[in-house]
Amino acid sequence: MSATTADTTNQMQQEETSSQILFYLNGSRVVIEEPDLDQTLLQYLRTTAGLTGTKLGCGEGGCGACTVMISRYDTVEQRIVHASVNACLCPLYTVDGKHVITVEGLGTAKNPHAVQQRIALLHGSQCGFCTPGFVMSLYTLLRNNPNPTEHEVEECFDGNLCRCTGYRPILDAAKTFAEQAWKAGTTVNADGTATVRAAGAAGSGAEGCGIEGCCRLGGDKKGEANSGCCRESEAGGSGCCRESEAGGSGCCREKNGEDGCCKKTPANGADAETQSVIAQFKKYDAGSELIFPPFLIRYAKGTTALDGSEPQRRMLAIASGSSEAWCRQFFRPLTLDALLALVAAHPGAKLVAGNSEVGVEMRLKRSRFPVQIFVNDVAELQHVREAADEVVFGANITLERFGRELAALEAAHGSERTQAFAALRDNLRFFAGRQIRNVATLAGNIATASPISDLSPVLMAAGAAVELAAAGGRRRRVAMADMFTGYRRTALRADEVIVGVAVPFSRPGERMRAFKQAKRRDDDIAIVTCGLRVRVDAQGRVADAAFAFGGMAPTTVLARRAMAAATADGGAAWGDRAVLARLLDAVQAELRLDYGVPGGMAEYRAALAGSFMLKFWALTQADAAAPAAAGLHAAEMDDGLGAAHEGRAVCRGRQAYASVRERAVVGRGVAHASALQQATGEARYVDDMPPTRGELHMALVPAAHAHARILGIDASDALAMPGVVRVLTAADVPGENVWNIFADEEVLPTTHVHYAGQPVALVVAASRRAAQDAAQAVHVTYEALPAVLTVRDAVAQGALFGEERALRRGDVDAALAAAPHVLAGESYCGAQEHFYLEPMGALAVPRGEADELDVYASTQNPTETQMVCAAALGVAASRVVCRVKRLGGGFGGKESRSVLLAAFAALGAHHTRAPVRAVLDRDDDMRTSGQRHPFLARWTVGFDGAGRLLALRMHVFSNGGFSHDLSVGVLERAVSHVDNCYRLGACEIVGRIARTNTQSNTAFRGFGGCQGMFLLESMLCEVAAAVGRTPEALRRLNMYRAGDTTPFGQRLDDWNVPLMWDRLAASADFAPRRAAVDAYNARSRHRKRGLAMLPTKFGISFGVKFLNQGMALVHVYTDGSVLVAHGGTEMGQGLHTKMAQVAAETLRVPLAAVFVSETATNTAANTSPTAASASSDLNGFAVHNACAALAERLRPYRERMPDASFARVARAAYLDRVSLTAAGHYATPDIGFDWQAGTGQLYFYFTQGVAVAEVELDTLTGAHTTRRVDILMDVGRSLNKALDIGQIEGAFAQGQGWTTTEEFLYFPRGPLFTQGPGNYKIPSAMDIPRDFRVALLEGLPYEGLKTIYSSKGVGEPPLFLGASVFFALRDAVVAARKQEGVDAPLHMESPATPEILRMACVDQIVDRATIPAAEKEGKVPFAVRI
Ligand SMILES: Cc1cc2nc3c(=O)[nH]c(=O)nc-3n(C[C@H](O)[C@H](O)[C@H](O)COP(=O)(O)OP(=O)(O)OC[C@H]3O[C@@H](n4cnc5c(N)ncnc54)[C@H](O)[C@@H]3O)c2cc1C
Ligand code: FES
Ligand code: FES
Repeated sequence: MSATTADTTNQMQQEETSSQILFYLNGSRVVIEEPDLDQTLLQYLRTTAGLTGTKLGCGEGGCGACTVMISRYDTVEQRIVHASVNACLCPLYTVDGKHVITVEGLGTAKNPHAVQQRIALLHGSQCGFCTPGFVMSLYTLLRNNPNPTEHEVEECFDGNLCRCTGYRPILDAAKTFAEQAWKAGTTVNADGTATVRAAGAAGSGAEGCGIEGCCRLGGDKKGEANSGCCRESEAGGSGCCRESEAGGSGCCREKNGEDGCCKKTPANGADAETQSVIAQFKKYDAGSELIFPPFLIRYAKGTTALDGSEPQRRMLAIASGSSEAWCRQFFRPLTLDALLALVAAHPGAKLVAGNSEVGVEMRLKRSRFPVQIFVNDVAELQHVREAADEVVFGANITLERFGRELAALEAAHGSERTQAFAALRDNLRFFAGRQIRNVATLAGNIATASPISDLSPVLMAAGAAVELAAAGGRRRRVAMADMFTGYRRTALRADEVIVGVAVPFSRPGERMRAFKQAKRRDDDIAIVTCGLRVRVDAQGRVADAAFAFGGMAPTTVLARRAMAAATADGGAAWGDRAVLARLLDAVQAELRLDYGVPGGMAEYRAALAGSFMLKFWALTQADAAAPAAAGLHAAEMDDGLGAAHEGRAVCRGRQAYASVRERAVVGRGVAHASALQQATGEARYVDDMPPTRGELHMALVPAAHAHARILGIDASDALAMPGVVRVLTAADVPGENVWNIFADEEVLPTTHVHYAGQPVALVVAASRRAAQDAAQAVHVTYEALPAVLTVRDAVAQGALFGEERALRRGDVDAALAAAPHVLAGESYCGAQEHFYLEPMGALAVPRGEADELDVYASTQNPTETQMVCAAALGVAASRVVCRVKRLGGGFGGKESRSVLLAAFAALGAHHTRAPVRAVLDRDDDMRTSGQRHPFLARWTVGFDGAGRLLALRMHVFSNGGFSHDLSVGVLERAVSHVDNCYRLGACEIVGRIARTNTQSNTAFRGFGGCQGMFLLESMLCEVAAAVGRTPEALRRLNMYRAGDTTPFGQRLDDWNVPLMWDRLAASADFAPRRAAVDAYNARSRHRKRGLAMLPTKFGISFGVKFLNQGMALVHVYTDGSVLVAHGGTEMGQGLHTKMAQVAAETLRVPLAAVFVSETATNTAANTSPTAASASSDLNGFAVHNACAALAERLRPYRERMPDASFARVARAAYLDRVSLTAAGHYATPDIGFDWQAGTGQLYFYFTQGVAVAEVELDTLTGAHTTRRVDILMDVGRSLNKALDIGQIEGAFAQGQGWTTTEEFLYFPRGPLFTQGPGNYKIPSAMDIPRDFRVALLEGLPYEGLKTIYSSKGVGEPPLFLGASVFFALRDAVVAARKQEGVDAPLHMESPATPEILRMACVDQIVDRATIPAAEKEGKVPFAVRI
């Protein structure tokens, strides 16, 4: 034994160790002897503690659904620290000595915490799956700071994603806790409660005329006091907003016999409720929160009683009892000596700090680390030491603390000395979300050696060094410039630990900046990141420079040629334009990437390197004239509109809708019926159901090839693993191994696989982990076959399904020949992942007799789930009941693809006779569940000089994936929505579906409609450019008029788009803002603003006629309560709430008397999927019909007992043997379209809307901000205005994501690249419009609308309006190209990622970054859009 090893062994022997962890959970002490070392805190909470309020959304720190608060006593800072943390990445053992608070620790639905109550009542919870995470983030903020600013409130959600709400209501609810009044309409009362008077609050809607900016809703469109119409002062005369259209007095209500303008005075029929909305919130009392247990302070300080009456905090040393454990041995030292001794004694042990890297590696790469040492509790690694010329930061201080320390140093020493500190803080601002920053550490970031680390480039450029220590007192320093020795390799020796990071103070004349560009601004890893430093002498000449880049090589690199260029000629003047030119030349020559470089985006990354250099040069000029001399504005150079993070504008939202006068319950903006359950974590989703006795778990065995013949499946190794019960293959399907409406998919494949990731076999085991481990051990041999992925390749190869859908009108050839102008081109829009926060899940529970089976599923389609499960098992459908309590989001993704997973669970249950739970991890879900269809259009269009469309021939191709699924329906809707809102002239629109080797693309909110509209709008922009007009001018010019017919022959009677277009143009000040945008663009070189106005019409009905039916079953009980069952599922859209409103209205009972429990196939049989935005229409009428029948039966009793309660009435009827149960059915009349003949009515009606979007684009990086969006939506007479506003905002955000940040990519050989939130980016709270105004069109008679209470479907129609952001960005790009003198027509495909946007803003940097076609030839790109 060497001396050193002997020392360390002695050292360890001196340490007393413990194998128990002790912590507090929601105020109660928990002690675990020898905890499961592989268990995360999330797994412990959900399975062992039964606290299922904390959700599993991704398992990789990317969604925030698992957020909890962990409080600890920090012995170095000597204070209690409360931190929001991702429980999914938190090893259970790390909570020793801490207090964990989960959503259950705050309140209950009956007695909610103020945070839970406000989010629930202000509509911040739709599906609710994200809600506990948001609650905990806000709660943590308030625990640290009971009086946050609005800005701090918004920023606290930078690690939380929501897919339903569009964030606005969550932000509004949260801002009621801010110091500033939330909105003009919010008053914070003396007792801490808040009174809100604003539209959109729970309870009802505010009074307004439906025009955005209405003075009655706090807007700036003011009339004279009490004079009535808010447009009065602008319009003159009577002032009625409809005057110009209606003629005469103009009032829209006039014909109803009312006296003039409906808004004449508040007293004019207005009821008190609709004058203002008042929500009384619970008081937020910081003093009454769960305390931090004093014992834990003593425990942390090591001052607990030595007599053994209290446990001592000791070094943890735990050995796993399980031979299958991934971590067999674990240590948690408390001192550096002990740590170093452990490292010496266990070569190869994995150090774990924040676990944000290690945890992800274990989950996604399935890396195993048998020996782990947790370092974050070592006090010596937590110190910050200040010396004369540097500061040494303890290696394992959290990034949150690192940021605070940097800020304090900047404040103490001034900016001249702290240039590096400021630059580090710049990059920390956009580093992950705060749940990660609260645990992740400096050393963890450096030791990971990621080539896209955000800190390493800054540290390297700053001249920082890493302090390393090993046992035996060995210490050394390694300069950051020498730290990285290869891809993810460092100079760290096996026995060394990073103990500190020394960052020098800046010297005189030094300037430093950091830049980062990611796909999404918040919570995203970098595409390129850098730290750039220059030092100039007293004469302004460059003394030295350091430029470090991440994302440009396998390691963080110094751009040495550029550094040399800066100091060439003995140091030129930094302000000299020639220096800039040299720098750009050098950096772009040096940092070139190969076309197929890992990570892709070779050209964009090279362009970013140049752009950052340009920004740096301009921003660091001491001589303000230098940038101006170079034609640059320093103010435009800051990091992508991020400027100061702190300065980012707070989001404002305004919602406008008129009061409901005519109905008691229907129309009112009551909150989602389950909102409080969701906000308190009480709401149960499939995976929250407690385990039943003998329950087993299922994992899928994914196909390794995109297309292959299966040669053999060997499950012997898997079956030998502990806990494994069965491995199922196609041979184990006892019934039909075929499913899907076209019967072209196997439940499990027999001979071939058709996409990478396709489930080939299923493993059933005692635990989820055992099943997943065993799935890896199932060996499948294949013969690989050729595969096609992209729609373009499929079209080129003729790989198409047989169906064709065509709409033809007029003689297109003749019209094209006669048209003054003809243009041909292509439009494309990419796929979109649903990213419902709750991954797919199903639980099949055999009843143990007569083949009966209950299937609990997260599905929009209970009936198909029931039928496919029954068919696969070979039993009658009557034996299978599918039950759906709620979904954590569906958006179409759980309309058909969820069925297969339920069938898998059913198969497992059938073979094992035990309950089987099949819940997918996020990556499995994204690999198998199908997406929104990408679409390609090839068009030829004829038009006149004004841009009037005269003829269109468009061939539309969708990428259907490997099977039909719902692709034909999606294609039909796409083809029938190509016209959007325009007269096309003679037209021929022909659609086909490409058959590719990807997962089967499926329904997604909008169902092809938005793709169809996008394809045309994209074309329209190119036509507008050709005639030199704006797209808006062409949109208005070509817009349908009432009475026109569509290409499928449907007459537009209920046609409000022109009216809404003109109203919104006025209320959103489109014309003056267009001028303002142009003026801004004329003076701004590197930031351009863009403006776009976009209409939409969306046909409501299922394309398949028989699906247009709804059913309901209503029971009235003798206590006066009402139970409603209907065919629709609750997935966040508030369907159950609306159905309860319909029932309450029809039965004339209070809303509270009505309850909707679940959707189940034994109470609502043969149901249509909850889809097509038609569920309220279909089920609403069914509920109404059932309730009307009941009301009729009860009528005599009500007449006889006019003053009796409903309970007494019901009881009287019951005693008379009157049935208090009624079924209701409804079938949509009139519809039915024959695609072959082109006859019949395709849609029952159209939901319509218009949006205006304004953006600001950083043309150097492609980053953008959506400055403002105005939406005016016609949803008929809404069943619930607040819920409908929520649908509009949520759908808009999804449409915005679809066309901007959400890029769905495959590796060219077949597997999916974007498999989770790490590389697939849905919009975050900071991406939504900074100013978001939504109004409902009100006051129309809707005489022809034969829907339930004249309401219109709303779920899908607003989604396309999100594309207004895309078109506004396109407008900004056009301005940038114009400035650079680029004449070539702009062809821009969706999504407009920062990469697409930057590369479209052609300039010298882009030219230099572009890889010549010859160099690309024969090379395969890293990833492809399909
Ligand atoms: C959702 C998410 C977002 C992220 N976003 C970003 C981002 O924006 N920018 C970015 O740069 N990174 C990002 N990361 C990566 C990661 O969070 C950081 O690299 C983080 O700093 C790692 O720190 P940690 O303490 O969690 O490290 P851990 O995961 O605990 O450890 C990482 C490595 O460091 C080693 N290590 C830890 N401490 C020491 C020590 N004292 N001495 C020697 N070795 C040590 C460990 O052994 C391990 O190899 C993100 C990660 C996630 C999950
Ligand atoms: S589940 Fe933990 S962040 Fe998504
Ligand atoms: S409510 Fe946020 S994800 Fe559904």
